[in-house]
Amino acid sequence: MKVIIVENYDEASVEASKIMLAAIKANPSIHLGLATGTTPVGLYKEMVKDFKENGTSYKDVKSFNLDEYSGLPKTHDQSYYYFMIENLFKHLDINLDNVHIQESQGNIEENCKKYNELLETEGVDLQLLGIGSNGHIGFNEPGTSFDAVTREIALHDSTVADNARLFFDGDLDAVPKKALTQGIKNIMNAKEIVLLASGTNKAKAVKGMIEGEITTDLPASVLQNHPNVTVILDKEAASLLK
Ligand code: F6R
Repeated sequence: MKVIIVENYDEASVEASKIMLAAIKANPSIHLGLATGTTPVGLYKEMVKDFKENGTSYKDVKSFNLDEYSGLPKTHDQSYYYFMIENLFKHLDINLDNVHIQESQGNIEENCKKYNELLETEGVDLQLLGIGSNGHIGFNEPGTSFDAVTREIALHDSTVADNARLFFDGDLDAVPKKALTQGIKNIMNAKEIVLLASGTNKAKAVKGMIEGEITTDLPASVLQNHPNVTVILDKEAASLLK
């Protein structure tokens, strides 16, 4: 695991964008695994800025998101599909036919099966991750088997509270309590992984991920087993490291 510690969130976003953009330039038909949440917003801004200034093209890029709330239509302004369109895709020349996010309406089991098959067939070259304050990656909450693949899960109360704070106008009742998420196994299949974390509320999970034992109690600790992971932290997220 390579660990890069920078001063603040903005620097972490720039650092992540350097890796992302170099990978896209080296392989214009790259398969990107993408994340939502507050953490990648700065990185996505950097990618949009680069597109405007340097024209790095995404026309042959394919993307595969980590997760989506159950039951929210793509048009819902809190769905992760909507998030990705607003924060990234609508600003780039990416072909929306190449954008993949779990379909969270209709036959969920069938949709998850199809998503797993898609990931198997296509494969992810570079996976971007955030980390939950409880150590989750994707929405693989503590206790998840490392063999898990894409499926519907129940979000932990702490995740629902975290998400309500940031989205849904703080309304706990409005936050979906279930989501479709790539499993740990899907995530570990990516050739390369970049994990971004910022803020003191991530420090404990970050410490466990890097210095702790590998345990399903802290799902992100499984990344110690991956051969090509870069963790980018701001000072606050790194504050508990030895
Ligand atoms: C998002 C995802 C989650 C988030 C994590 C951190 O697609 O899979 O694991 O990365 O919950 O969220 P933020 O960035 O909002 O702190």
